[in-house]
Amino acid sequence: MTVYAGDPGVILVDHPLVQHKLTIMRKKETSTLGFRRLLGEIAMLLAYEVLRDVPTELVEIETPIKTCMMPQLAGKKLCLVSVLRAGDGLLSGMLDILPAARVGHVGLYRDPATLQAVEYFLKLPRDIDERMAIVLDPMLATGNSAVAAVNKVKQAGCSSIKFVSLLSAPEGIATLRKAHPDVTVYTAAVDECLNDHGYIVPGLGDAGDRLFGTK
Ligand code: URA
Repeated sequence: MTVYAGDPGVILVDHPLVQHKLTIMRKKETSTLGFRRLLGEIAMLLAYEVLRDVPTELVEIETPIKTCMMPQLAGKKLCLVSVLRAGDGLLSGMLDILPAARVGHVGLYRDPATLQAVEYFLKLPRDIDERMAIVLDPMLATGNSAVAAVNKVKQAGCSSIKFVSLLSAPEGIATLRKAHPDVTVYTAAVDECLNDHGYIVPGLGDAGDRLFGTK
């Protein structure tokens, strides 16, 4: 885990296992099944880093041998917010290791002409203002969807937010960090740039299509 470009608000999860799995995901011949499975596996590994700084508290427990004080998670409860539709690929892996988290969805599509995010669905837990939100979108490309999704979570009253992507473009990181400097970004890789259609280069193609086998 390293800091990206000297910005402590951008965490690059560059663990060799994550990098290896991501390389397989990028290959154009990787099947829908393989892509989906790998995204779920990487989501679990990302969750591990995203929660690295959450507080713990000591609680008294009894082992079969003796009574002792041991740590358990403390602090705010969690809400995972999936940015539809590709966010659902990260969501399933995260829920495997955070099964008690609440889940919200923000439906956004990219207008192909303007590349701006257009909202078509929003459902967030009522008590999201008391939770830490982890916003999930595998591709941080232009950053427009990420900014729009975080706006919605903030408008619902949430003040503790992290953003998780699998793959980012430098442009997307800059846009999100400028709009929401209080939101730490976790990503497994930062690629070269965006192409004229707003796709990450070299990237992995359309994450939603590859995840759901639509094309
Ligand atoms: N969304 C994707 O699915 N892929 C990209 O490269 C950029 C945005």
